[in-house]
Amino acid sequence: HSSLRLKDESKNAKCMLVTSTIPGEGKSFVTSNLALAFAVHGEKVIIIDGDLRKPTVHKGFKLENTKGVIDVCSGKLTLDEAIARQVHPNLDVLPAGGRAKNPTHILNGKGFELMLSELRKRYDRVFIDTPPIAAVSDSLIILPLVDGSIFSIYFNKVRRKAAQFAASRLINSNIPNFGAVLNGLNLAVSGYYYAQYYDKSYKDYYMVKAAKEDQEHDREHGPARG
Ligand SMILES: Nc1ncnc2c1ncn2[C@@H]1O[C@H](COP(=O)(O)OP(=O)(O)OP(=O)(O)O)[C@@H](O)[C@H]1O
Ligand SMILES: [Mg+2]
Repeated sequence: HSSLRLKDESKNAKCMLVTSTIPGEGKSFVTSNLALAFAVHGEKVIIIDGDLRKPTVHKGFKLENTKGVIDVCSGKLTLDEAIARQVHPNLDVLPAGGRAKNPTHILNGKGFELMLSELRKRYDRVFIDTPPIAAVSDSLIILPLVDGSIFSIYFNKVRRKAAQFAASRLINSNIPNFGAVLNGLNLAVSGYYYAQYYDKSYKDYYMVKAAKEDQEHDREHGPARG
C-alpha cells in the first residue's frame, strides 16, 4: 500500500487489477487487503469481483453473491442497486452476482467498459480481483481498461517458469505493472532468502526479527505447529 502510494506511476492510479499465474495465489486476499488499506487512509474505495468464473470477494465480507457485475453489465440492475455499501468505512464492494456462463463476452462488452468508467468517477480507487492468467485470458481482457496491474505470487506454489511466462504477459502489455506481492512467505524464510542476496547485516536483522516475531507469536497463540 505505501509503495503504491509513493511510486510516481501508481500514486495517481485510480483503477488497478490484481492477478496471478495459477489459482490460489492470494489474489482475492491481496485485493481485499489493499483496498482496505486505502479505505483506512480515508480514500473512497470499491472492490469489483472480476473473477466471474469463481467469484470469492463477497465471502471475505460475508456478503451474498446474488447481484453484481453480471447484472450491471447486462443492464438488469443499476450500479446503485448492485453495490454493497460501506462493508467497512469508505469501502464498497461490487460482487460478481453469480457465476457467468460467458465471462469473456461480458468482460469484452461495452457494458463492462461503461461500468468501469462510471466507477472511476465515483471512487478514488477501484480494485478488480481477476482470474489467474495461466488458466484464462480474462485478466488480459480487463487490462486495457485499468491504470495498472498487481501480480500476486504464492511462494513455493507456482512453478518459476509458469510465473515468468504469466508475468511477461503482463509486462509486455502497454499497461504498467505496479509490482508483485510475494505471498505465503514467513519471516524466517524471508530472512533465509534475503540473506543469500544481501549484506550480512541484513541477515542478522531478518533473523533476529523472525525469531522475535516467532516468540511473540508463541506467546500469543502457543507454539506454531509443523
Ligand atoms: N498473505 C497471506 N497470508 C495468509 N493467508 C493468505 C495469504 N494470501 C492468501 N492467503 C490465503 O490463501 C487462500 C487462497 O487465497 P485467495 O483466495 O486470495 O487466492 P486466489 O488467488 O484469489 O485464489 P483463486 O484463484 O482460487 O481465486 C485463502 O484461504 C487466503 O485466505
Ligand atoms: Mg480469488
